[in-house]
Amino acid sequence: MRLTRSTAAPPPLAGGNRSLRGSICTAILLALLLVLAGCGAEYPQSTINPHSDFAEIIHSLYVSIFWWTMLILAVVWVLLTYVVVKYRRKSEDEQPRQIRGHLGLEIGWTVGPALIVIAIAIPSIQAVFATQRPVSEDAMEVHVTGHQFWWEFHYPEQGITTANELWLPVDQPVNLRLHSNDVIHSFWVPKLGGKRDANPVPAVREGQDPKYNWLYFTPLQTGVFMGQCAEFCGQSHALMAMRVVVDTEEGFQDWVDRWFRSEGADFPTEAADFPSEGADSPSQALAEVAEYAAEYGNGAGDLDGSGVPVVATGNEVLPVQAASTHDDDPLVARGREVFLGSTCIACHAVQGTSAQGVIGPNLTLFGARHTLGAGIMENNRENLIRWIKDPMGMKAAVAMPGVDYPGGNWPATGLSDDEVEAIAVYLLSLK
Ligand code: CUA
Repeated sequence: MRLTRSTAAPPPLAGGNRSLRGSICTAILLALLLVLAGCGAEYPQSTINPHSDFAEIIHSLYVSIFWWTMLILAVVWVLLTYVVVKYRRKSEDEQPRQIRGHLGLEIGWTVGPALIVIAIAIPSIQAVFATQRPVSEDAMEVHVTGHQFWWEFHYPEQGITTANELWLPVDQPVNLRLHSNDVIHSFWVPKLGGKRDANPVPAVREGQDPKYNWLYFTPLQTGVFMGQCAEFCGQSHALMAMRVVVDTEEGFQDWVDRWFRSEGADFPTEAADFPSEGADSPSQALAEVAEYAAEYGNGAGDLDGSGVPVVATGNEVLPVQAASTHDDDPLVARGREVFLGSTCIACHAVQGTSAQGVIGPNLTLFGARHTLGAGIMENNRENLIRWIKDPMGMKAAVAMPGVDYPGGNWPATGLSDDEVEAIAVYLLSLK
């Protein structure tokens, strides 16, 4: 019988065997490659390389569960191999002993997994409590606002507002207050902390506190850490990235100082006083901002606790600490003039200037940012020029107009190539 079957086997079967062997070899090679890649490469959004106390708690939970599952895997494989070998079919007409219902087995495979679930639940619940522990008194507070599709970071103690790059001092506990300006986003910087949802905060009655999500951690190493919105929030959810720059205490303080002196000694400047070509356009744009905020303002910028939209969030009139050092470059001066004389300032703010818009990202120290468009591309002159001309071509549903099309309730900017380049050079000089 067997002989007949084997001789009758057509050539394709032999070919099939060869291809089976080939695919097993490929699978082994791929597995090896995967293991080697895991050893060597540095993945920017890897959770298995923690750099904060929060991420370490998550990571140690992951590692312990990983090794327990490896143990379970080993037990299963040993048992499986034993059964496969011992009870294999030894002759053609052999019938294994038939059993129906086995109380011992039933109890075993119900209680066993239940115990495993309990064993996983205990450290998981401990990790939940450990990552929600009371905040220490010296923690620095930062208000994080998710927008479609970028991140706003407001430092209430320092009076700073920035976007898409969160600067933090190393070894200093930070308490992030998370909320959204529109739909649900989720803050996730795998090496530091998250995921934690940034929810739209519902309006509350006077005297009541709006309910926020908080994320509390201490960064333990300096470096630039990549993050990503982790809750589907619309067309450009995948393009809503961020960076966390963890610097030394001095480096962070220097960044704070630079934020306040990033611009010249013209602060505070009344919009109408600003010597730009179209002298009335800045004030007109500012009036539009106020109008827009009144209409769409629920949560525009940062909620104050009062529920009233705050125009120029955190940009209280603060003393300027040093004079600008960038004005010697004529292109920078030209770009500054064009920027402040255009509708850019209806949405964007630059500390120390008449640009105090709160709808879009605050552009103070823009030149010091690593990336552009919420972490989607390198921040350089070429990309910035492309971005200002055609933001929607680079990011779907972006609320920013291009030079020849409207966006986010604003008309096309109508800027010439020279003006766009000058603005790019000016913004990159802010650092
Ligand atoms: Cu914001 Cu996804």
